[in-house]
Amino acid sequence: MGAGYARPGEEEVADRVAAAGGDTTRVRLEGAHALKHALRFGADIEVVATDDQPGLLTLLTDLAPDVVDEVAARVVQLAPARWQRLVPRPLPSPCLAVARRPRVTVGDVLQASGRILVLDRPRHLGNLGAAVRVAAAAGAGGVLTLGDADPWHPTAVRAAAGLQFALPTARAEVLPATDRPVVALDPGGTPLHGSPLPTDGLLLVGTERGGLTDALLARADERRAIAMRPGVSSLNLATAVAVALYADR
Ligand SMILES: C[S@@+](CC[C@H](N)C(=O)[O-])C[C@H]1O[C@@H](n2cnc3c(N)ncnc32)[C@H](O)[C@@H]1O
Repeated sequence: MGAGYARPGEEEVADRVAAAGGDTTRVRLEGAHALKHALRFGADIEVVATDDQPGLLTLLTDLAPDVVDEVAARVVQLAPARWQRLVPRPLPSPCLAVARRPRVTVGDVLQASGRILVLDRPRHLGNLGAAVRVAAAAGAGGVLTLGDADPWHPTAVRAAAGLQFALPTARAEVLPATDRPVVALDPGGTPLHGSPLPTDGLLLVGTERGGLTDALLARADERRAIAMRPGVSSLNLATAVAVALYADR
């Protein structure tokens, strides 16, 4: 955060938090966990709001002392009525923040080194976020989502604990052309644990209900399956991502 930061007033902070949810140039961060990761991975934080400043700073002192000073320099305490209007559902901790959304192109994601996670039309933003979180933790190079779901939606950011800031994350309509190996994660494939996944590959993961489309399966150089007990048809999307990305770590 720049040294010349001028802390805005309560009304301006509330307005900026309210506007951030539908603004594709901004990211709304719900809870201290997401704010912590955003700060650690270089987010440009514009405003931080709370209805319990001592509680928030105590929580961060316990859980993330490395970001306490930065949050303390920015946080603005809102009056209860104003705070209530901003909080659509219970928050994990008394904190709402706004960051600038990084400009990440599909090309940026495809040029990243390491494995690229590709989620085809995820339906649940919680799954999407959980997959981003494990991809960041496992050291993947980037995340691409195909279809309408915005990987920077506040719900996905909350589920990812803000780790979209840790690796290039973008959305594309369809799978772009690539020279990299493409691996489909598919219950009908050959065993995942038989041999390592390519370290520079695209890992395709299907949508929750239907799995990968025939068109995407046709783009894959190989299909790999995570072993399951007979009778179990599939793993949760984010769980499958975790097993695959940690298979050789
Ligand atoms: C909830 S599953 C989709 C289930 C879908 N009915 C199917 O048959 O693929 C979402 C995605 O997670 C991945 N997945 C889940 N379980 C898997 C397994 N055992 N092996 C490989 N991939 C799996 C696949 O990419 C799948 O498309």
